[in-house]
Amino acid sequence: MELSKPVNEIIRQRFSCRTYKNQAIPAWISDKILSYTRENSVGPFGGRSRFHVLENLDLAPNEKIGTYGFITGASAFLAGAIQKDEKCFVDYGFIFEKLILYITDLGLGTCWLGGTLHRSEFASKMELKADEIIPAVSPVGFIHETRSLKEKTIRFFAGSAKRKAWAELFFHNQAGTSLSEKEAGSYVIPLEMVRLAPSASNKQPWRVIYDSQKQRFHFFLERSKSYDWLKMKMDMQGLDAGIALCHFELTAREAGLTGKWEILSPDEIPATSFEYIVSWIAN
Ligand SMILES: Cc1cc2nc3c(=O)[nH]c(=O)nc-3n(C[C@H](O)[C@H](O)[C@H](O)COP(=O)(O)O)c2cc1C
Repeated sequence: MELSKPVNEIIRQRFSCRTYKNQAIPAWISDKILSYTRENSVGPFGGRSRFHVLENLDLAPNEKIGTYGFITGASAFLAGAIQKDEKCFVDYGFIFEKLILYITDLGLGTCWLGGTLHRSEFASKMELKADEIIPAVSPVGFIHETRSLKEKTIRFFAGSAKRKAWAELFFHNQAGTSLSEKEAGSYVIPLEMVRLAPSASNKQPWRVIYDSQKQRFHFFLERSKSYDWLKMKMDMQGLDAGIALCHFELTAREAGLTGKWEILSPDEIPATSFEYIVSWIAN
């Protein structure tokens, strides 16, 4: 992945940066980012994204109430489009997070923005087609040393620094039986990287059930009722799932653990009220 350090270090380094130095990023950096997007544009379910780095966005005053009203000093935004289909949010989550980790490694700040984002300016700049959507965007810029008051407030309310415990996220053979770090064996770091992932409103909806006999990790979502994504038409928690798959796969591969993603039939996965996404079949 052309990174300067182990991916788990970059995952730990990333945070949602909402205060930037008012300084444009040099053209060679945006070129580097764009060339990386071209080589890393496909998600685990085969969906493909295209990306633009947008500068000098002409945001209408009413758009300031959009979520990037909380973003200060960013001069550039990275936005991607993907063809609408059932799995496009998971694919986009995977692809965009991989990109965000690459940008983090370049020393720049980013912040997933999807919630109440006004997409019209991005859509027109990207010449969005009828069958495409922009699930999320991110500012890209130089990190300001001190966080703005707005940023401190939003981090406080989202509880951004906190993550759920292992026992709430990872299960052994069946939902409800917690998986210990010891039982996770060589997969302890990939799972820990899922735990540290960013998620919309920091809801951390990912759940994993490990079938230790068959060496399979079944990924699920425990959806929050507050995210009525059908009403929003934007599946933020589908993006969260894609981010989790990205962290898991990148750290697993780096550790030499091989496997592949496969959607299994209902009789091959443990019965649970969680929503099934996909399984990692270790080999
Ligand atoms: C899919 C997704 C959508 C998000 N949308 C927004 C957003 O609209 N506005 C915002 O300020 N932060 C947004 N975030 C950032 C989360 O609030 C943040 O990741 C979480 O609080 C954890 O904090 P951290 O990223 O600093 O680790 C989003 C994150 C994800 C993964």
